[in-house]
Amino acid sequence: MSEPKLIILNDAHELYVRAAEETAHIAGESICTHGEFTFCLSGGSTPAATYDLLATRFHLSVDWKEVQFYWGDERCVPPDNAESNYAMANRTMLSKLALRPEQVHRMRGEDPPAKAAAAYEDELRKQFGLGDGEFPRFDLVMLGLGDNRHTASLFPGDPAIHETQRMVVAVEVAAEPPRRLSFTPPVINNAQRVMFLVSGQGKAAAVKDVLEGPRDPDKFPAQIVAPRDGEIIWLLDKAAASLLSPR
Ligand code: 6PG
Repeated sequence: MSEPKLIILNDAHELYVRAAEETAHIAGESICTHGEFTFCLSGGSTPAATYDLLATRFHLSVDWKEVQFYWGDERCVPPDNAESNYAMANRTMLSKLALRPEQVHRMRGEDPPAKAAAAYEDELRKQFGLGDGEFPRFDLVMLGLGDNRHTASLFPGDPAIHETQRMVVAVEVAAEPPRRLSFTPPVINNAQRVMFLVSGQGKAAAVKDVLEGPRDPDKFPAQIVAPRDGEIIWLLDKAAASLLSPR
């Protein structure tokens, strides 16, 4: 695993723009290299502005017809629910792009969680041509960081942090809505690139713990993210990076 690459931006707006720039660059490289860009989206609120920039200012920078959209986690709610990660991505980006329906691989949050998790694993096997025990290799997995140190829907103390076989699991978390679907570490850590987007003073302690604290993924789940053969990029604004040791 390569050392995490930290990019610290002056403020949230610069962070959002840089995240869009990095994503457009990775998309172009992926499409040139193997004909498509497999893009695993993060949920939460931080990526929303970057998604909007990708669909507007950076619209012409990406060959969108070659992009395949996936999610690293989803809330167990219908796709038109305000809490849905799909709904946020659709509102800010997907609805502004002339995509074919088969480019968008939504986790079915409206279905019973265990069934939705199994169905998404089937979708991954089909789309990536996976054999038994194989994991998809995403060109980019975008992630956020919760102030409780979670990422995707891998929350502190959840056994899913140590999952080694399953690709997608249904979890109950200490947040609203509590029932969620999440990629497991083997999927995230098989990515070509993982990019964390973290903004704001409220995340500074979490960033400090994850990047400079003692290794304890049960307390700091984002520490489990360590791509086996890939790059990890942390895009931080100065506020989120404010407690890090000088580098
Ligand atoms: C989710 C996300 C989650 C998110 C963090 C940060 O479904 O909520 O996948 O992991 O990235 O909670 O959320 P914010 O960007 O809203 O701070």
